[in-house]
Amino acid sequence: MKALALYRRVIALSMVWTLAACGGSSPSASGATASPLDVQTKTYPELVVGFAQIGAESEWRTANTRSIQDTANQLGVELDLSDAQQQQENQIKAIRSFIAQGVDVIGVSPVVETGWDEVFAEVKQAGIPLILLDRNADVPDDLYSVRIGSDFVEEGRRACGEMARLLDGQGSIVILEGTQGSAPMIGRGTGFQECLREYPGLQVLDSQSGDFIRARGKEEMAALLRTHGRSIDGVFAQNDDMALGAIEAIEEYGLQPGIDIKIVSIDAVRAAFEAMIAGKLNATIECNPLLGPLFFETALHLANDTPVEKWIKPIEGVYRQDTAAQELPRRKY
Ligand code: AHR
Repeated sequence: MKALALYRRVIALSMVWTLAACGGSSPSASGATASPLDVQTKTYPELVVGFAQIGAESEWRTANTRSIQDTANQLGVELDLSDAQQQQENQIKAIRSFIAQGVDVIGVSPVVETGWDEVFAEVKQAGIPLILLDRNADVPDDLYSVRIGSDFVEEGRRACGEMARLLDGQGSIVILEGTQGSAPMIGRGTGFQECLREYPGLQVLDSQSGDFIRARGKEEMAALLRTHGRSIDGVFAQNDDMALGAIEAIEEYGLQPGIDIKIVSIDAVRAAFEAMIAGKLNATIECNPLLGPLFFETALHLANDTPVEKWIKPIEGVYRQDTAAQELPRRKY
């Protein structure tokens, strides 16, 4: 560890507020109120962090990458950020290169849940703390230090609750799923299905994968409309980008999104608020991408051998059309 002991006192002073508030009560963890780290006057020039990002599939991901880069710049931390272009093998290569460089902390947002045991064991063997940022991995707990990210199952439950409210508990739904095998795709699907059991009048007609990408959401929604036509009452899109694509497909099909077909999605990006204001999207469940401050604070704690919670969750809300105009100016992503 490079001279990190020198920073112990300043970290202790500046960080207490953040992790004490984690697990659901940190104001810095809300998408509406997230602010840069409260340590702008301090820098940590000797900390080196490697982060293996997934790619740039969505507005959420772009905001997440920006949050990580901006926070590193504010803190003066050296960040080696790699873009895996949606390929797990690229993320594995990046992690191995971070080990070879001897970085102080490694972060990764695993593109899919499985297949990480070997490389995570190598990180552990090298004695480098590992942070799972955003997505989780299906590995034993001792193979990583901490996960910082949303409760995807709860997001799926919330989406189902919104859909049940919009359809008054009766109707046929189609699902646009994210990347197959990814933690948010699995978690959101599980939570949605689990909550659907409380609504016997709601049934899932069909599900297709749109890979969390807007153009793919449009393509799959157009195909679903060709197959099921007017039988579709609701769309659960597992992220906002796919919902925005679905809106275009529904309009091209000659129906009114948000009215003829109710749409609920996840992320709460600015474009989703604009679509709600236009009456085309009915609700969005927040999934906060502004994780840079929590990531680096946690990295500093780990580099100093300070214990942290195993799962740090941002606080997140549910947004509907009726408050969208009021909320939009407050959105940070
Ligand atoms: O892992 C978070 C998900 O990944 C977001 O919901 C989605 O937009 C992104 O691509």
